[in-house]
Amino acid sequence: MKNILIVGIGTGNPEHLTVQAINALNTANVLFIPTKGEAKAQLAGIRRDIVSRYVTRADSRVVEFAVPVRQTAERSYHHSVDQWHAAIATAYERLLLEELVEGQTGAFLVWGDPMLYDSTIRIVERVRALETVAFDYSVIPGITSIQALAASHRIPLNLVGKPVEITTGRRLSESFPQRSETAVVMLDGEQAFMKIDDPDAWIYWGAYLGTEQEIVISGRLADVRDDILKSRAEARARHGWIMDIYLLQKGADFEE
Ligand SMILES: C[S@@+](CC[C@H](N)C(=O)[O-])C[C@H]1O[C@@H](n2cnc3c(N)ncnc32)[C@H](O)[C@@H]1O
Repeated sequence: MKNILIVGIGTGNPEHLTVQAINALNTANVLFIPTKGEAKAQLAGIRRDIVSRYVTRADSRVVEFAVPVRQTAERSYHHSVDQWHAAIATAYERLLLEELVEGQTGAFLVWGDPMLYDSTIRIVERVRALETVAFDYSVIPGITSIQALAASHRIPLNLVGKPVEITTGRRLSESFPQRSETAVVMLDGEQAFMKIDDPDAWIYWGAYLGTEQEIVISGRLADVRDDILKSRAEARARHGWIMDIYLLQKGADFEE
């Protein structure tokens, strides 16, 4: 039997790694590092840095692999993601067949935590369902971008006793502020906060959290949203890519 470790590595700061994650990486014979595009070039660099900092066993090796790109033309969103996952599953299957021998362990270094807007777990399950390679796997948690955002802004995530909704830019209009007083927005390529027109909304925004390029801006949404838009565009032009996340909130602790 082969073994897979799906290891959460945090969101850019090598010190986000837990002791459990470091120990797990040191049990692996092979460390799989995804590469893809300009953003991924820097993210792959962070993963290499993590391996060189923390992996002390001399006999493990790094295998870099290209992640297939999602095709969107003439496909619904669900069809496009399903096809993309199938292509990644084929890539993983090849890695397991060609890079690991019986009894060996391979580790996937997953950005943030594997349970949050990440499909490594479901893709690994997809590979298992193919029944072409026998393996077991475990998941090691990591620090998410939500935790990094809350820590950088020094805020609790939720209002006292209140729920939090985690959503994407594409679906923000369904949730905040009418359904949830607190919404965390990830994967927002359209700056959906610009369409929220509520004088009582606050925003806590962060980009490149945990990395040396980290930027954070907070305030009343109506007052700071243009600043965020400008900073975001400038940073994106400067670095060639951006990852950002924000929390929108309305109301206060102990308010009914
Ligand atoms: C595919 S999801 C992966 C989330 C990851 N698994 C986690 O635990 O945070 C990518 C999204 O996470 C957020 N994100 C991840 N890392 C980030 C960072 N360092 N700074 C800001 N946002 C980040 C952004 O919203 C980005 O679009």
